[in-house]
Amino acid sequence: MNKIKIAILASGRGSNFEAIAKAVKDGTCHAQIMVLITNKPDAGAIKIAQNYKIPVEIVERKSFANRDGLDLKIKSILDQNKVELVVLAGYMLLIKNKSLLEKYENRIINIHPSLLPAFPGESAQKDAFEYGAKISGLTIHFVNETLDGGAIIYQEAVDISECENEYDVAREIITREHSAYAKVIDMFARGKFTTEGRRVKYVENNKEGKHE
Ligand code: GRF
Repeated sequence: MNKIKIAILASGRGSNFEAIAKAVKDGTCHAQIMVLITNKPDAGAIKIAQNYKIPVEIVERKSFANRDGLDLKIKSILDQNKVELVVLAGYMLLIKNKSLLEKYENRIINIHPSLLPAFPGESAQKDAFEYGAKISGLTIHFVNETLDGGAIIYQEAVDISECENEYDVAREIITREHSAYAKVIDMFARGKFTTEGRRVKYVENNKEGKHE
C-alpha cells in the first residue's frame, strides 16, 4: 500500500507528532514523514524528530519581514519535499498566505482539543472546564484562513464530567488525540476525503490501494 508523504508543523512539545511518528514506525499509519517544520528553535518536537531521524526545518518568524515571507518559505519546503498532506500538530501560528492555502487546499489538517465549533482558540480545555461542559472532545479539521474554522473531518467526544481542573481535561483529551490523529492520517493514505461546502465525505481507494 502506498504511503502518503506528510509534513508535520509543530511549535511545542510535540506529543501528537511523537504518536504519529510511532504509528508510522509500527506500520499502523501508512505515511512517510518527510520533514518537521517548526517556528520555535527550542520546541520539544525537534528532539523527537532527531530520535526518529526526521529532517527538521526551523523557520522563525523574526527571520522574515512579514508573515507572507514565513508562509512562502513553508510552502517552498512543502513543495521541495513533494508533500501530499500537511499535518499541524500544535503549530501556534495561523497560516495566512493565499498561495499556500490555495495550493494545499484540503490537504492541510489540524487537531483541536474540543468539539468545534465549541471552544475554539488556544485555551480550549480551560474554556470547556470553566464553562462546566460535561462532554468535550477533539476535532480534526481542514485548515482555512479562519482560526479553527475549516470543514470538520473527524470528531471524538470525551467525557470530562469527573475532571477537577483544566489539566485533567487536557490529559483526558490528549491521549485520545494521539490515536485519533494517526488513524485519520492513515485514512488519507487509504482513500480520499472530498468536501461539498462544509460537509466532508470519505471514499476508500479501489482494491489496488492506489492513492489518487
Ligand atoms: C494539542 O492539544 C492539540 O490539540 C493542539 O495543540 C496541542 C499540541 O500538543 N492543537 P502537542 O505539542 O502535540 O503535545
